Amino acid sequence: MRVLLGPDAPLPELYAAPSEPWLRVNMVSTVDGAATGASGTSRSINNDIDQVVFNLMRQQSDVLVVGAGTLRAEAYAPNRLPIVAVTRSGSVPPTLRDCAPGQVLVATCSHAENLDEAREIVGDEHVLALGSHRVDLAALRAQLVERGLPRILCEGGPHLLRDLLDQGCVDEIDATVVPRVIGGRHPRILDGPPVDVPLRLHTLLEQDGTLLARWLVDR
Ligand SMILES: NC(=O)c1ccc[n+]([C@@H]2O[C@H](COP(=O)([O-])OP(=O)(O)OC[C@H]3O[C@@H](n4cnc5c(N)ncnc54)[C@H](OP(=O)(O)O)[C@@H]3O)[C@@H](O)[C@H]2O)c1
Repeated sequence: MRVLLGPDAPLPELYAAPSEPWLRVNMVSTVDGAATGASGTSRSINNDIDQVVFNLMRQQSDVLVVGAGTLRAEAYAPNRLPIVAVTRSGSVPPTLRDCAPGQVLVATCSHAENLDEAREIVGDEHVLALGSHRVDLAALRAQLVERGLPRILCEGGPHLLRDLLDQGCVDEIDATVVPRVIGGRHPRILDGPPVDVPLRLHTLLEQDGTLLARWLVDR
């Protein structure tokens, strides 16, 4: 379905997840594929309509899953939704260290160098050691569902998105393309070793040249 967005567009309906559990990943890039702008984060490339949809997806979710690199780069603050920090090292991002119990969960592995520190900072029950040397992301998804958090929103970053796809955890990619090209050297929305995942277009929305696509992972 292709929809030109107007002020009355039924966005909540257009973004409703088809079933539960559901894991979607929301990313933005420029027409030339840059996932960051001059600031070194996505903040310098997103725009108003992307922000509207970003906020809507949060409203439709139970939990945020975010790579530690993104949490650090974008200095995430605590949110209404619990935030799962995915980190191989077990290092809790500085801006999330003073959160109330349960606001931050750490998904890491049992060999993480900072495992004990993570347990001290966020509390034992909020550290998920999944796998020995790498984080088992399928197990993470299952644990979140078990904890009553079936609507899972991942906000990147590029390495985490790549790994989630590689481990077969993603139902949907929400990819906004803003009408700009910026050149220079920037990451794409996926980074790391190659993966090859077929997608099916679910919905394409357009407003003032910004394209907002819902892509479903074709299983
Ligand atoms: N355009 C967009 O929509 C968008 C969205 C998000 C982020 N970004 C941008 O992307 C940049 C960050 O890129 P990035 O690729 O470094 O982000 P990232 O994937 O969030 O961060 C990588 C780090 O996150 C942890 N991590 C990621 N995948 C993991 C996995 N499978 N298992 C265990 N830990 C994992 C590791 O943390 P440890 O080092 O702690 O082990 C890793 O070093 C920033 O500039 C950010 O602004 C753009």
